[in-house]
Amino acid sequence: MRRAILILAIATASGCREPRSRVTEAVTYDGAVSAILASRCKDCHEATPAPGGWRGGSYLQAIACVADGGPATRSSSGPAPLLRVLDDAIHAPLVTPEERATLADWVAAGAPKFVGTVHESSFVDPRSPQSHGRALRSKRWRPMLDAKDPEACGRCHEGVARPEKATLTATGAPACTTCHSEERGVLACGTCHVDRPNSFPPRDACFFPDDPINATAHAAHAGPTPSRVEGLACATCHVAPPPEVIGGAHGNGTVEVVFDAKLAGAAMWNPQSGTCMAACHARDGGAKPNPAWTDTRQLACGDCHGAPPPKHFAGACSGCHREADATGTALTSPRLHVNGIVDLGDGSGKCGACHGKGDDPWPSTGAHTKHRAPSAAASVACATCHAVPNEFGPGTSHPRGGAPTVALSGVAVTKGAPATFEAGACKNVYCHGGNLVGTTPATPVWADTTGAESTCGSCHGLPPGGPHIPAPQCALCHGSVAEDTAAGPRVIPAKGELHVNGRVNR
Ligand code: HEC
Ligand code: HEC
Ligand code: HEC
Ligand code: HEC
Ligand code: HEC
Ligand code: HEC
Ligand code: HEC
Ligand code: HEC
Ligand code: HEC
Ligand code: HEC
Ligand code: HEC
Repeated sequence: MRRAILILAIATASGCREPRSRVTEAVTYDGAVSAILASRCKDCHEATPAPGGWRGGSYLQAIACVADGGPATRSSSGPAPLLRVLDDAIHAPLVTPEERATLADWVAAGAPKFVGTVHESSFVDPRSPQSHGRALRSKRWRPMLDAKDPEACGRCHEGVARPEKATLTATGAPACTTCHSEERGVLACGTCHVDRPNSFPPRDACFFPDDPINATAHAAHAGPTPSRVEGLACATCHVAPPPEVIGGAHGNGTVEVVFDAKLAGAAMWNPQSGTCMAACHARDGGAKPNPAWTDTRQLACGDCHGAPPPKHFAGACSGCHREADATGTALTSPRLHVNGIVDLGDGSGKCGACHGKGDDPWPSTGAHTKHRAPSAAASVACATCHAVPNEFGPGTSHPRGGAPTVALSGVAVTKGAPATFEAGACKNVYCHGGNLVGTTPATPVWADTTGAESTCGSCHGLPPGGPHIPAPQCALCHGSVAEDTAAGPRVIPAKGELHVNGRVNR
């Protein structure tokens, strides 16, 4: 900030009002008060959370509201909180009687920041009828937008549109950007809305008690919420401000609710009732299809659509929707939720969307992983155990909802093995010894992932019993598949394809 020496050349030449004479004794924040607060109060009141909700590190903080409600320097009855507190046991010893009197004078004078030579002393207090914010708003901000305006702030201040000839600033007139330090300076969205990443109403009720409505659904829409990671752009429901920020419908004194063209036909705002009719809320079976903008209660899963929608599919929601948990009572992946598309699985539109990943539909449940890559056999096709769909989604028969269907075929029923899947286990499947001569078939349990079912000897003996030659050296006769090692016979790693393929290989 540049506190320059001289205003006169520009200021008086362009017809500015004569500086008023200083009232030397007036107590101001910039004068005695900030020094008292810094030396007597800072130690405790810089902490987070601040004791009593009061900070006092800047002018705006000093006049802000305390934890139990009203402004620190004002009160509708009795002494203002800032003075009242000085009588309690903690505070009484902190200040001298003179300092206390100074603070009392300051509060009585309306807690001015400075004694103005140009402006009213309450020019910075947003609550004051003379605040520069209100003054500018009532003039549709012309003095800060138009350097040619007779009252152009830029005649004396930096950080705002300045007349060509204005190169110096008035003594004591800080740059607007000392306080409006957001990226766009005075034109930052936070200057007139609220100073946070996505500047949506309401503003701080302590400073703007007469703003129209302080409780609206803005936070639930424009802010990040548990069910949505990013806030909606203002332009979803309003006309976006023009590049120059103020102009057109923006800042004209009326709020327009105009939905994004993408929502055309799917969203309507009813200004009479203050409610929305929008595809975001009005879905099949929802209990609250037309929410009121001032209703800030958290919506339940069943408010916008049935939970689940009427006559919906049976089975865990998470089997078909990645955004919900199994019971449909909580969101697990809010990114896909209320994005305008009914997403199935991870939304990729591929077989792997609900089970598996991308183009790969292999689930990782039960013994799927073992069958996908067995240690001594070829990968088992889905079709060996299931009727495989070739399409999915609304209007198709897949998924149906409910328990998966196991339909054994191919190698599983070699030579007419009477293979079945019952009570979570396979019975009489050829692969596990069904129909092998001299072998009692195993009944592998689908949920058993210990690997016990893939050790030699679990499907057939070494060698099989019955009429089979009782020779333990398999390679003698089955050398294309097996080899004999000191630890016993094993399937030659490169020949796994020939093992459990439905044919006895020599
Ligand atoms: C030793 C620590 C300490 C210091 C120093 C201190 N305060 Fe406090 N202040 C507190 C605590 C603790 C509270 C909350 C309890 C209370 O209200 O007394 C508090 C509360 C307040 C409140 C809120 C009162 C209300 O009604 O909610 C104000 C205003 C305040 N302090 C002003 C001051 C001022 C002005 C100074 C300097 C003159 C100061 N404090 C110095 C500890 C401190
Ligand atoms: C004629 C020169 C002049 C013009 C024009 C002017 N100011 Fe100022 N401004 C000052 C001076 C000088 C101060 C220091 C306080 C005082 O003496 O009134 C100041 C102080 C301020 C402050 C308080 C800064 C602080 O330190 O607390 C604000 C806010 C402010 N001006 C805003 C504006 C706005 C907004 C406009 C345009 C509407 C404007 N000023 C136009 C000269 C000017
Ligand atoms: C001493 C700090 C300070 C300085 C310097 C300052 N402002 Fe402000 N200004 C504020 C505060 C505080 C508010 C109230 C809003 C808030 O809480 O941020 C505000 C509000 C505003 C608003 C909002 C008006 C509305 O419609 O809500 C505008 C516009 C503005 N200032 C313009 C300016 C301009 C232009 C300058 C420089 C000429 C300036 N300010 C200098 C502190 C300052
Ligand atoms: C989901 C839709 C939606 C989104 C997103 C949204 N608004 Fe609003 N906004 C509204 C509605 C509805 C109103 C009330 C209009 C009325 O009362 O006529 C409103 C009112 C306002 C008002 C008037 C003050 C008030 O609280 O009533 C302002 C200012 C405003 N919005 C700014 C914003 C800004 C800035 C953003 C982006 C950060 C934003 N809005 C995002 C729907 C939205
Ligand atoms: C100088 C003050 C000012 C600044 C800076 C400002 N706005 Fe506004 N804005 C307003 C006012 C006042 C309204 C209330 C409605 C009106 O007057 O159009 C408003 C309303 C809105 C609305 C509601 C729709 C409408 O136009 O009525 C949106 C959205 C909005 N502002 C977004 C923004 C965004 C985004 C920025 C930053 C790029 C921004 N505003 C910066 C003053 C401002
Ligand atoms: C078997 C698969 C499957 C299961 C299980 C399933 N859904 Fe769906 N869901 C779908 C399909 C397919 C659609 C899109 C077509 C339709 O609406 O019938 C859909 C659509 C939806 C929709 C959008 C409705 C609308 O109005 O646009 C919601 C909400 C929904 N499901 C919630 C659930 C909840 C909650 C559960 C668990 C209680 C669940 N679903 C279980 C397959 C399933
Ligand atoms: C604000 C209204 C709203 C609320 C509240 C809501 N949903 Fe939804 N939900 C929708 C809309 C709209 C869809 C339609 C598809 C889309 O746009 O994502 C949907 C779709 C779904 C789907 C289908 C998959 C998808 O996103 O496309 C599931 C599952 C779902 N919701 C679960 C839930 C659960 C669980 C809750 C409670 C934690 C919940 N919903 C709360 C509006 C809502
Ligand atoms: C060796 C037989 C076998 C193979 C091969 C197989 N599955 Fe399965 N699958 C099953 C069994 C058994 C179940 C469990 C059935 C039950 O619990 O009622 C099952 C269940 C499922 C389920 C239901 C959800 C789950 O994870 O339990 C899906 C989806 C599925 N399989 C898809 C596939 C796909 C896709 C393939 C091929 C990429 C495949 N399966 C390969 C036997 C197999
Ligand atoms: C919307 C989620 C979803 C998508 C996408 C999906 N599946 Fe499934 N799939 C399931 C569910 C859930 C089951 C369990 C049985 C049921 O509900 O039909 C299942 C079961 C299966 C089964 C076991 C047999 C059965 O029908 O029970 C196979 C095989 C299968 N899916 C393959 C596929 C293939 C191939 C694709 C791509 C064409 C695919 N799935 C896409 C959800 C899905
Ligand atoms: C999952 C059940 C299963 C396991 C475990 C198993 N086998 Fe087999 N094995 C079979 C079946 C079924 C056949 C019948 C022939 C065919 O279809 O390949 C067979 C056949 C054989 C043959 C005859 C040659 C052939 O493949 O046609 C040899 C040798 C053999 N197995 C050795 C082994 C050895 C060594 C192990 C341990 C590494 C082993 N088997 C583990 C199921 C199994
Ligand atoms: C002396 C030769 C010989 C030796 C050694 C031998 N086998 Fe065999 N094996 C056979 C013959 C012959 C058949 C029947 C061939 C046919 O059905 O085409 C057979 C069949 C099998 C079958 C399939 C049975 C069925 O019902 O289809 C298995 C499993 C098998 N052998 C495993 C083994 C294992 C394991 C070893 C080593 C521990 C072994 N064999 C050692 C000759 C041998």
